[in-house]
Amino acid sequence: MIRYVFLLLLSIVLYSCSKKLTKKEAGLFKERGNLIVQKTAKELSGNLMSKMKEGGIPLAVEYCNTAAIPLTSKVSETEKVTIKRTSLKTRNPLNKPNEEELKVLKKYSSRINKNASLEAIIELDESGKPHYYAPILVEKKCLMCHGSLDKEVSKQADSIIKSFYPNDLATGFSEGDLRGIWSISFP
Ligand code: HEC
Repeated sequence: MIRYVFLLLLSIVLYSCSKKLTKKEAGLFKERGNLIVQKTAKELSGNLMSKMKEGGIPLAVEYCNTAAIPLTSKVSETEKVTIKRTSLKTRNPLNKPNEEELKVLKKYSSRINKNASLEAIIELDESGKPHYYAPILVEKKCLMCHGSLDKEVSKQADSIIKSFYPNDLATGFSEGDLRGIWSISFP
């Protein structure tokens, strides 16, 4: 009897561990994640650029400091997901990666080094919820705040950034580098 109960439990565990998304389901989550990323990135970048025009780097950095996390939280609420931006080199310690995100960041770094494809990744997390990851690459327009201190980041920008983020790690990037990832959790 005990043996049967044991076998039954074992098969339940094996079944739940092998739970996987079908290709179609994964495709749908990928599509939805891509749209959410597009929407959030567009809003962040649009606001940032208008702050740059209005008050240069000081206002733009202040905007990122006060609005970047609230903006992703606002989109998270309307889309009923949890959106995070994270990186191997964070500026805001609140954006630090968790263990799973760390793995994905390393995976994308090595894919970039090998010139391999950088498609979004869909995985089930340990509680069985679908999770979306996609890379964030450095563009030219990012360099004044994330480039090299002696090249693209001015002394003024550097001191403003340091005043908000004394533990900033997010400089020294070049165009095309992996700046970080989008990490979106679906309910
Ligand atoms: C005007 C300066 C400025 C520009 C330009 C800028 N950023 Fe940032 N970035 C910041 C600041 C400030 C933060 C910290 C935001 C916070 O407190 O959450 C940040 C945070 C981030 C983060 C979150 C992870 C972390 O390090 O905390 C990512 C990812 C990111 N930036 C990517 C980019 C990309 C990609 C671009 C270009 C398309 C860009 N940034 C342009 C100032 C800037």
